[in-house]
Amino acid sequence: MWRTSLKVALLNFLVHAVVLQARDQSGFISIDCGGSNSTDDELDIQYISDDDFISSGEPESVNSDLRSYFVQEQLQNLRSFPKGKRNCYKINNITIGFLYLIRLQFAYGNYDGLSKFPEFDVFLGVNKWDTVSVGADDNVNVNTVIRMKEIIHRASREYISICLVKKRGTPFISTIDLRPLKNDTYFTPSGGSLVTCSRQDLGHLSSTSSSSISYHRFKDDPYDRIWTRSSKQYAEWAMLSDSNTVTADSFSQNDYQVPADVMRTAITPANASDPLVVQSNIPTAQSDEYHIYMHFLDLEFAAGLINNPIREFNILVDNMPLSEYLVLPSLSAKTINTTVNNEINITISFQMTSRSTLPPIINAIEAYRFIPFNQLDTFQADVDAITRIQSVYGLTTRDDQWQGDPCGPAGYMSEWDGLNCTRQLDESPRISALNLSSSGLTGTIDLSLSQLTMLEMLDLSNNDLNGQIPNFLSQLHNLKILNLAGNNLSGSVPSILLEKSNEGSLLLNVDQNPYLLCESGGCKEKKKKPLLVAAAIGILVTLLVIVAAAAIVWTLKKRKTKKVEKTPREIKQDDDVSLNFKNKIYSYSDILKITNNFRKILGKGGFGTVYMGHVDDAPVAVKMLSQSSVQGYQQFQAEVKILMRVHHRNLTSLVGYCNEGSNKALIYEYMANGNLREHLLGTKFLSWKDRLCIAVDAAQGLEYLHNGCKPPIIHRDVKASNILLTENLHAKLSDFGLSKSIPTDGRSHVSTVVAGTAGYLDPNYYQSSRLTEKSDVYSFGVVLLELITSQAAIRMAEDDDDDNDGKTHHLSHWVSSKVERGDIHGIVDSRLGEDFDCSSAWKIVETALTCVSQNSNERPIMSEVLIELKNALAMELSRTNYGGGVNNNNGDSSVELVFVNANESTPLAR
Ligand SMILES: *[C@@H]1O[C@H](CO)[C@@H](O)[C@H](O)[C@H]1NC(C)=O
Ligand SMILES: *[C@@H]1O[C@H](CO)[C@@H](O)[C@H](O)[C@H]1NC(C)=O
Ligand SMILES: *[C@@H]1O[C@H](CO)[C@@H](O)[C@H](O)[C@H]1NC(C)=O
Ligand SMILES: *[C@@H]1O[C@H](CO)[C@@H](O)[C@H](O)[C@H]1NC(C)=O
Ligand SMILES: *[C@@H]1O[C@H](CO)[C@@H](O)[C@H](O)[C@H]1NC(C)=O
Ligand SMILES: *[C@@H]1O[C@H](CO)[C@@H](O)[C@H](O)[C@H]1NC(C)=O
Ligand SMILES: *[C@@H]1O[C@H](CO)[C@@H](O)[C@H](O)[C@H]1NC(C)=O
Ligand SMILES: *[C@@H]1O[C@H](CO)[C@@H](O)[C@H](O)[C@H]1NC(C)=O
Repeated sequence: MWRTSLKVALLNFLVHAVVLQARDQSGFISIDCGGSNSTDDELDIQYISDDDFISSGEPESVNSDLRSYFVQEQLQNLRSFPKGKRNCYKINNITIGFLYLIRLQFAYGNYDGLSKFPEFDVFLGVNKWDTVSVGADDNVNVNTVIRMKEIIHRASREYISICLVKKRGTPFISTIDLRPLKNDTYFTPSGGSLVTCSRQDLGHLSSTSSSSISYHRFKDDPYDRIWTRSSKQYAEWAMLSDSNTVTADSFSQNDYQVPADVMRTAITPANASDPLVVQSNIPTAQSDEYHIYMHFLDLEFAAGLINNPIREFNILVDNMPLSEYLVLPSLSAKTINTTVNNEINITISFQMTSRSTLPPIINAIEAYRFIPFNQLDTFQADVDAITRIQSVYGLTTRDDQWQGDPCGPAGYMSEWDGLNCTRQLDESPRISALNLSSSGLTGTIDLSLSQLTMLEMLDLSNNDLNGQIPNFLSQLHNLKILNLAGNNLSGSVPSILLEKSNEGSLLLNVDQNPYLLCESGGCKEKKKKPLLVAAAIGILVTLLVIVAAAAIVWTLKKRKTKKVEKTPREIKQDDDVSLNFKNKIYSYSDILKITNNFRKILGKGGFGTVYMGHVDDAPVAVKMLSQSSVQGYQQFQAEVKILMRVHHRNLTSLVGYCNEGSNKALIYEYMANGNLREHLLGTKFLSWKDRLCIAVDAAQGLEYLHNGCKPPIIHRDVKASNILLTENLHAKLSDFGLSKSIPTDGRSHVSTVVAGTAGYLDPNYYQSSRLTEKSDVYSFGVVLLELITSQAAIRMAEDDDDDNDGKTHHLSHWVSSKVERGDIHGIVDSRLGEDFDCSSAWKIVETALTCVSQNSNERPIMSEVLIELKNALAMELSRTNYGGGVNNNNGDSSVELVFVNANESTPLAR
């Protein structure tokens, strides 16, 4: 009955009326690699030649016999990179903070006659984005295939560099598209970006007739996203389509601006009483985080098919309800997003509520994989300086190698020739050595060198430099070797340089500069020096090489000993905590503003006091480190490091921090419902379903720390007061101050000073100081017991206890004794009355008790705990009004949604 046939002619007219206004190419950057300026007539997009974006590589064209496979002209040209390990495009005119959709296409077209598709990596700046290859798929014709890579990225610099790094064969590229997106639509924190996995127009079959298009993009889509259609009709889905309701007004409230032509179709269950189920076909890795965007627009009300229509359904992602229910706003587009971790195949089901008169629908869906971008670009001032040096001395084509980030991705041996960098954990790499010996430099010694403040070695020997030796060279405090020999420098050597040379802190060579004036002192000695200098340079270079091998230790040590002489401001910059997430760092005066002079206290802990605050109107919690707390400072650092690294919907997220002298603060998202302990012991009441959802949430957070993080992280302080609740009672684990990473060298534990909270502390760990994941499992078991009973972990013995001796007792002993008597109602919080599912209660009690086993080998691992909890939740949900469908979606009603992997698709070749 839902398959209403359509008045297609009318529909097309309406849709075009809607999209006309959306045509706007402002901000689009479309590059035809290896090609010339041209306009793609069909898309009406202007492509420009890549000449201004890269200095290396060879322009090529696809084999002329294969041209017909690449209808779009920009795909017929390409640029190949036979030389150099890394070649980079640099695209300027980028606005920092803007969100960009970046799309690369690779059409090989047998341009080199080898019929062999190469394999290479693409990097966005210094971070690896993906590998381009055809893989092992025998069905792919390497000569006609088009590979596509797409990413949504928030710009952090005024340029974007896209680098191709050689693996097998010669890297090449056909097109680069940059499309600015509306800010705050897709999730892109500073630590990573979203890679497109799928973007699908549901309810639209791709036509077999070659004349009609099988996707939508610009101009239908103002952001030029490519929406693909299903290739297959599934028996379980009915296609739904309706034009009358789709008007410009439908989109006025929606930031995502999905094309009208995509939204005018939807899928619904073929049998209205079945749930609608879509499943991804990508086996997702456990540590990956997927972001799903679902777009809805009701299509049937205007058709007047039903009186008093209600369309209301639950969305369950892997059996977890996403929100209580969704009432579709009748005539305007709505987008719902969610994050999925640790799943095999993502299953999303839509189940109508009992009062709904219409079955669920969905119009379009997008799936993205979050990739962390942990590597930091070279320090901006160093990049600016070296870029200027490059242009002043005409070094732009130096071996084709001075491209992309100067220090390059760590571990890729990709530093520019002639320069070396130092790296420190969590800090931007700095240029520490520059050797431009025999590079044909002319003119004077450029001022921009003074910006390379971390330089330890500068070799400008054997060039044609003239003018004076500038004073600024003596301001480079880290400089240990300065070689200016073999130039035409004149004037005198700055006295500070001579002093440094005399006292031995600088190895200075100014020989063979015929016009350089020799003053008394330094220059006299010079006569004796050449041999000495040469020998000394030899020794120092050796030292440098040794030192480079142990770079981190060395730089850390050096920094420590240096700290004393630094101004307070520099000390701040050298602190161990990352300072690179610039948008996340706040000054103390910011903190005063954010907290309105510490007006409202949210809570107090050993660490310090927590205050209410606001960042851009969003509520936040600001934790101030008490000034005396040394341990607090270590915890502060631990917390910043971990929260910068991990992102999960069940872990509290860090908005920022302040690290100004003794004023140290952590700023978290505000959790409106406080902590779980307050709920359990206080007057607020949690239903059984709420408790199970909280247990699942917290278990997911913990499971992610154990299994999703490399190396695994042990929380060490799992307890009810560290589980925070949002307005909707979603639970997030917090307080990573004691957390530890487990080294991945095969040891399964770390030895530490015992820390944690009484009542939650694993007795094994307490005795042995050997910390493993199982210690967290123990603590989590205690939390479960508290959730079930609403009682504190350590309690005074009561009258009905067998051994009432007035001492404290652990909750687990009390629960065990009740279990032996088979008394589940005596265990569960009496406020729940009969309003819970007994079998789910038994299940969770059993799970909790195995978690608190004295012997850690008997405890389950978190992923096992999670499965039990999810089962218990499913039991409870099937008892309440979530209906019977919850457990069914592995059965016949399950339908596979083909998540077309955009990376591997070829939608543009027709
Ligand atoms: C191509 O277009 C760009 C940008 O509009 C312009 O700077 C360049 O000069 C054009 N090149 C040619 C060969 O017309
Ligand atoms: C980039 O910005 C510069 C200066 O703002 C401007 O002159 C130039 O036209 C822009 N180039 C492009 C391709 O938009
Ligand atoms: C976009 O949003 C981010 C974070 O929400 C913000 O930092 C940035 O300034 C915004 N950019 C623009 C152009 O509004
Ligand atoms: C729809 O599903 C219901 C319940 O599963 C079943 O009784 C009915 O026969 C189905 N109808 C069709 C047309 O398959
Ligand atoms: C995941 O999807 C793939 C492809 O459809 C399928 O082969 C596999 O069995 C699925 N795995 C699970 C656990 O459903
Ligand atoms: C959905 O997106 C918004 C805006 O980007 C974000 O604030 C919110 O946290 C997202 N929700 C989920 C569940 O990811
Ligand atoms: C950089 O370091 C490498 C190895 O540590 C060394 O061989 C090379 O000479 C250094 N380059 C410069 C410019 O110092
Ligand atoms: C700089 O490079 C040249 C050769 O390229 C080499 O002879 C010289 O020793 C290097 N300088 C230093 C200080 O390593």
